[in-house]
Amino acid sequence: MGKHILVMNGPNLNLLGIREPGIYGNDTLETLCETVRRAAEERDAAVDFFQSNHEGALIDALHAAMGVYDGVILNAGAYTHYSYAIRDAIAAIRLPVVEVHLSDIHAREAFRHVSVIEPVCTAQISGLGVGSYLKALDLLCGEADV
Ligand code: DQA
Repeated sequence: MGKHILVMNGPNLNLLGIREPGIYGNDTLETLCETVRRAAEERDAAVDFFQSNHEGALIDALHAAMGVYDGVILNAGAYTHYSYAIRDAIAAIRLPVVEVHLSDIHAREAFRHVSVIEPVCTAQISGLGVGSYLKALDLLCGEADV
């Protein structure tokens, strides 16, 4: 049986395609999810998707992932940089969580260089566009090293 993976997207990622295309590209969240779904099929994995602009909803979804999924791919958006509550939720659940970002957070404003969730995540993958999600998929499917 392949892996069952939850792909979570946080605040403002519902506006992909419209939002700062110079940074995030022209693809919509729907297109991104479709690309990830096809890549998962090729890896014999199943993926579900969750997007929310609300911190508490993201935390609830992390809690609910326990016992259901084998791992989580998380783009926490700006919460990455300051949400200790999301960090604590990741630490609490006994699941591998891979932190992903479309843009290279280390090449942008100073406040984006810090990820408060990185220490509790399995890996951080940043700057590869949708490729960040695909690399995370490989990691969780055991097909790539960090
Ligand atoms: C992001 C980077 C964050 O700094 C930003 O707040 C986002 C998107 C990315 O995917 O590049 O919302 O996580």
